[in-house]
Amino acid sequence: MNGSLPPGPTASRAFQTVRWIYRPAAMLEDCQRRYGDIFTLRIAHEGTWVFLAHPDAIKQVFTGDPRLLHAGEANIVLLPMLGHHSVLLLDEAAHMSQRKLMLPSFHGERMRGYEQVMAEVARAEIERWPLGETYAVRPAMQRITLEVIMRTVFGVQDEARRARLRSTLAEALEWGSDPRRMAMLAALGPQRISRSGLFRRVREPADELIYEEIGLRRAAPDLSQRDDVLSLLLQARHDDGSPMSDEELRDELMTLLVAGHETTASTLAWAIERLVRHPRALARMREEVEAGEDEYMDAVCKETLRLRPILALVLRRLTEPMEIGGRSLPAGVNLAPCIYLVHRRADVYPEPLAFRPERFLEQPAGTYTWIPFGGGVRRCLGASFALFEMKVVLREVVTRLGLRARDPRPERITRRAITLVPERGGEVVAER
Ligand code: HEM
Repeated sequence: MNGSLPPGPTASRAFQTVRWIYRPAAMLEDCQRRYGDIFTLRIAHEGTWVFLAHPDAIKQVFTGDPRLLHAGEANIVLLPMLGHHSVLLLDEAAHMSQRKLMLPSFHGERMRGYEQVMAEVARAEIERWPLGETYAVRPAMQRITLEVIMRTVFGVQDEARRARLRSTLAEALEWGSDPRRMAMLAALGPQRISRSGLFRRVREPADELIYEEIGLRRAAPDLSQRDDVLSLLLQARHDDGSPMSDEELRDELMTLLVAGHETTASTLAWAIERLVRHPRALARMREEVEAGEDEYMDAVCKETLRLRPILALVLRRLTEPMEIGGRSLPAGVNLAPCIYLVHRRADVYPEPLAFRPERFLEQPAGTYTWIPFGGGVRRCLGASFALFEMKVVLREVVTRLGLRARDPRPERITRRAITLVPERGGEVVAER
């Protein structure tokens, strides 16, 4: 092997794994304090992770050669749910080709077309929130983001079809986010899980509905006038002129659903969790939104994603030895640009633990220091979609409801599958 690994905890792999599962934030902070901006963790079934917390090292990874830095390979646990064509699981040429087909559908300016649907979905949900009592917003946010994806990405207009899809998809997604099943996935390995009868019973009903939708849409007479993502993908062409196959379409729809709905919902829950504990920020945001401006709200979203990123890291597997952050690292390790730690650097963000949206009015978000959506050729395809949806939903919430915290103490960061969510789901007391 070329080079030795950076320092890290000497505890057993099993012990490190348990700590990583139950106290990820504290573990990262401890390690950075003890070992600095580059350190090694050993996590069961995940191999060796080299964490990077310095912007220069992160830049090196995000601008590095994608042939040497495989993200798809590092995401393999998602294979059973997402399938072999998923843009999240591919690398190199196959990844770029799939990504190129999808990028135009997520272009920033296209998002405006979804505003009305997003607002309508948010309003219908908010109408049902109970008033004057403790209410956790995360599940409600998840209903909103699921509905938005069914309408804008899948493009299902018929309410009866949407109802069937809603319950089937919710069940399949819930199945995948159960921590015991995650453990099973890891133990059996994704290839065997894909073939197991237990998993097929969950996946097949969802697949059936998705394939049905693809078939109907292929035949839709108004296909070229529609602006949902499925309709756009159906009209997209590979470099050789061929259309996407049904399997490709199925895998990418599932990818967008899995990558896009819980992430956005949990970030929205964090935004509310932070805002109700910072009434001045909430008041300023509401005032500006009511005046038709969204600059401060944009800063609120960025500050939320900085302090409470729902993903702590992104992964790249090294296919060849490489020098990173002044160390030569062997092939086979997983590099982990650490979103959580780089967002808390005092040399980039003065008073790093303070929730202060103003900082993003004073200085723009840096490409290698504000990385909630990862970076480089793997940067989140749905970043514009997510930020736009967050703003539409927050606008609907704060202009319709008064909100306060039930308990002034911050909610702790806790794990839900691979995401970091507010411990009590973002509890508020709402008033008309
Ligand atoms: C606040 C919400 C979201 C967050 C924090 C988030 C974060 C991320 C992160 C960290 C990555 C990995 C980037 C990397 O490896 O460098 C990613 C990838 C991805 N995200 Fe998101 N995401 C969000 C919402 C969405 C939405 C709404 C969609 C689609 C509707 C989406 C679709 C994707 C896709 C397709 C990829 C894979 C890109 C590739 O491998 O080329 N995400 N996201």
